[in-house]
Amino acid sequence: MTRKLFVTTALPYANAAFHIGHMMEYIQADIWVRYQRMQRDGGQERQVHFVCADDTHGTPIMIAAEKEGITPQEFVAKIAAGRPQYLDGFHIAFDNWYSTDSPENVALSQGIYRQLRDAGLIVTKTVDRFYDPVKGMFLADRNIKGECPTCHAKDQYGDNCEVCGAAYQPTELINPFSVFTGSTPILKPSEQYFFKLSDPRCFTFLKEWLNTPGRLQPEMVNKVSEWLGEAGEKLADWDISRDAPYFGIPIPDAPGKFFYVWLDAPVGYLASLKNYFDKNGLDFDAFLKDPDAEQVHFIGKDIVSFHLLFWPAMLNFSGHPIIDKLKVAVHGHLTVNNEKMSKSRGTGISPLRYLELGMNPEWLRYYLAFKLNAKVEDLDFNGDDFVARVNSDLIGKYVNIASRCAGFIAKKFDGKLASELSDNAKAWIAKALTVDGAERQVSIGAAFEAREYGRALREIMEIADVTNQFVDENKPWLLAKDETKVAELHEVCTVALILFRQLTIMLSPVLPQVAARVAEFLGDAGHTWLDTQGEAAYNSMLGRSIGAYSHLMQRVDAKMIENLFERPGVATPAPNPASDAAPEPAAAAESVDAAPAGALAAPAAADAIEELAPEISIDDFAKIDLRVARIVNCEHVEGAGKLLRLTLDVGEGRHRNVFSGIKSAFKPEDLIGKMTVMVANLAPRKMKFGISEGMVLCASSADEKANPGLYLLDPMPGATPGMRIR
Ligand code: 2FM
Ligand code: ZN
Repeated sequence: MTRKLFVTTALPYANAAFHIGHMMEYIQADIWVRYQRMQRDGGQERQVHFVCADDTHGTPIMIAAEKEGITPQEFVAKIAAGRPQYLDGFHIAFDNWYSTDSPENVALSQGIYRQLRDAGLIVTKTVDRFYDPVKGMFLADRNIKGECPTCHAKDQYGDNCEVCGAAYQPTELINPFSVFTGSTPILKPSEQYFFKLSDPRCFTFLKEWLNTPGRLQPEMVNKVSEWLGEAGEKLADWDISRDAPYFGIPIPDAPGKFFYVWLDAPVGYLASLKNYFDKNGLDFDAFLKDPDAEQVHFIGKDIVSFHLLFWPAMLNFSGHPIIDKLKVAVHGHLTVNNEKMSKSRGTGISPLRYLELGMNPEWLRYYLAFKLNAKVEDLDFNGDDFVARVNSDLIGKYVNIASRCAGFIAKKFDGKLASELSDNAKAWIAKALTVDGAERQVSIGAAFEAREYGRALREIMEIADVTNQFVDENKPWLLAKDETKVAELHEVCTVALILFRQLTIMLSPVLPQVAARVAEFLGDAGHTWLDTQGEAAYNSMLGRSIGAYSHLMQRVDAKMIENLFERPGVATPAPNPASDAAPEPAAAAESVDAAPAGALAAPAAADAIEELAPEISIDDFAKIDLRVARIVNCEHVEGAGKLLRLTLDVGEGRHRNVFSGIKSAFKPEDLIGKMTVMVANLAPRKMKFGISEGMVLCASSADEKANPGLYLLDPMPGATPGMRIR
């Protein structure tokens, strides 16, 4: 059987540019989709349709367009025009990007409504709705704010609480106010159309749907079970209508009434799929009836009530068999330095600024993937952590393998890999790719499938660790100097590149661009997950001619991170009209207490200044060869109270081992990926724990008691390993 997947991300409101939280969700879904696309079911390519659309309807967009003096359609078109630079920029490969303001969505939404009505699940009631007496219009749920009736969080929208997730009617808000005028809304009677969620059929269906194994995360099953109550007594009917003026889809046979945006938004998933199918000659109706078709929605935790109550009930009672295969993957929110993202707090990150700073989109894909799992947990973006993770894993462990070995294949072997491998070489490959006889690609694949990306990447990095251990032990840079070791050099570099290819294939859902470049360099047409299985993992590489290696990825410069955050009072680049759509009020610039540049440091206590060493000549100084070094790894040394073991890259095509007495001042994980300065021509010193091949440099106070700090030297951004300090 071939799996047929219809995958979506939440449809973003078409009233603002994307923020970094959108990119996180798209990256999460895109990785899953790319992993699925690498699968073969019985030799057949897995069918994956990945679609999204702008969520266009509702009062906010109508009002925003009105302010600009354009139609809502023109407003939405401007926003839509800004989408590709983000999506392409972060390698997010939707098959289709569409709009809920489309003929397909009108037909599908009205069709679903008619079927619900025929099933006896639509009722009308005259209810009091909030009305802004100053603006003279009924207020949409998101136009009203107030205190959550459940958890009492302030400043919550009228439909659901972003803090506790509760869904409610706007009339239940405590101390409500209109977001347009700040006035207290008044209640005005209006005939409204409701989806009868209180019907016992809905409870019976939802209870079973929720509890079908594998469909939802356990924490979501619990949450929605609470909303259902013991016997559905907590399920209230859902108001699906809004009064004119409203930018939305007309409700059939109900003049002046429109569907509430949340009724037609999820139908927009189907509308985008239909549009895509029609454009590509595929049969939309057949797909929705296909028992093998699966529908998977990636969404954030703030919109679960719409996706786990209303949407499944709508699909089910409008006769959509795909409901049997509907899964919803809920993620937590993205915080920045453990705070909610906010420009005024200096924790806002614009995805476009990220790209404009020249930051590599695949760094962000990797970093977010490393932190993502299948739980509904918030995920924190931390600048230092980002730099360390990317530099340590992607540069220090992964790219490093190819950059240390590929050159020898080109220079010494005419670009051709070895045709045979010794048993020892095969044993190393097995050591890297298996654990207790089980192939790692199986558990790594299972982790991707389960959206446990962090687990997948940790295991992939274990393969990289074994590969680097193999290279370190076999030292191709030394083999290359010995004419009698040519065959050995050939084999070592071949093994390293075989494993590098395996790593690339397994990383390709996360790093699609790097994977494409590696495929070209290694002469692969493309990669499937089958290429990681059994001897296929290396057989096809033996005797192969490969292309010239060019550097795959730069390390992250920590200075970039400082510029990444949007500062209050500082304009964010607005390269598309969407950026202006919903500007956050700029706060006053913060005052800075730091001394102006050029000011002399206040003298330290006189006795703390160390006396200068005796004068030396320039020739004396020239004897000391100081080099920029990258800390590839850093770890504790068992049995040593003061030492850390540093693995340094000084640009020599090999790593140096240096013991340094800095344990009191640094945690090893904080140093990994950092650049520093070392004395590179110090005679190697045999120590109890091994040979130390140099010395890293630290500033320290003469009076260790007064200031016990050790300050590792840190070259300015741009310095690369091996540069000499003169
Ligand atoms: O919360 C939001 O941004 C909504 N526009 C998501 C809609 S998801 C789907 F239902 F369309
Ligand atoms: Zn709440």
